[in-house]
Amino acid sequence: MKIDILSLFPDMFSGPLHQSIVGKAIEDQLLDVKVTNFRDFSSNKHHNVDDYPYGGGAGMLLQPQPIFDAMAAVENDNADLPKGRVVILDPGGKQFDQKMAESFAREAHLTFICGHYEGYDERIKTLATDEVSLGDYVLTGGELAAMVMIDATVRLLPGVLGNKESAPGDSFSTGLLEYPQYSRPADFRGMQVPAVLLNGNHQLIDQWRQKQALKRTLLKRPDLLKKIRLSKDDLSLLND
Ligand code: ADE
Repeated sequence: MKIDILSLFPDMFSGPLHQSIVGKAIEDQLLDVKVTNFRDFSSNKHHNVDDYPYGGGAGMLLQPQPIFDAMAAVENDNADLPKGRVVILDPGGKQFDQKMAESFAREAHLTFICGHYEGYDERIKTLATDEVSLGDYVLTGGELAAMVMIDATVRLLPGVLGNKESAPGDSFSTGLLEYPQYSRPADFRGMQVPAVLLNGNHQLIDQWRQKQALKRTLLKRPDLLKKIRLSKDDLSLLND
């Protein structure tokens, strides 16, 4: 996968994306990330990228010209790839979730446009296929939001996670929160690992795990249960 990022603060990406699993994906050439500072494309002699909003109001807005020209350069650079999604980070966008990460992971090329300051000139949004928010709060810019989305997407790419960390049983990919897990020792300061996990009966273990996942979701995130269809078996586990 190729990921392009348009940002006024490229250094924000240089540490985090080169650590751990995403860093390894880059090393293994499963992922190529390029960050472009759209200030470099400003036609203004002072390299300004923002201006006051027409009609008045607080703060400055990102102007279209630098971002349109940076996008043209990104498109030119990636002419050999199928046209991918262009994500503009905005607190007013659709909220990011696991389903969206899964759909991003199916693309060969993604572009993230990170805003800063008060907002975007509305015309910039015509460049994007998706307006996406990390959540209902306002960040100082889109960079951290883009990094979260990249992290959640890249770990789903084939070959990125080893068996050890595999993704299909993750919280959210099943529509449920993940069941509780334990490692050694079986008794830690009087806190016992549930006996069912120690007896080697995988049918019982699977059933226990599904029941725990269902109960935990009901308790902590009942909203998630409304989005999935529970099987007859699930319903009897929940009521049991
Ligand atoms: N930029 C500022 N706040 C944001 C948010 N919550 N999500 C995405 N981009 C943002």
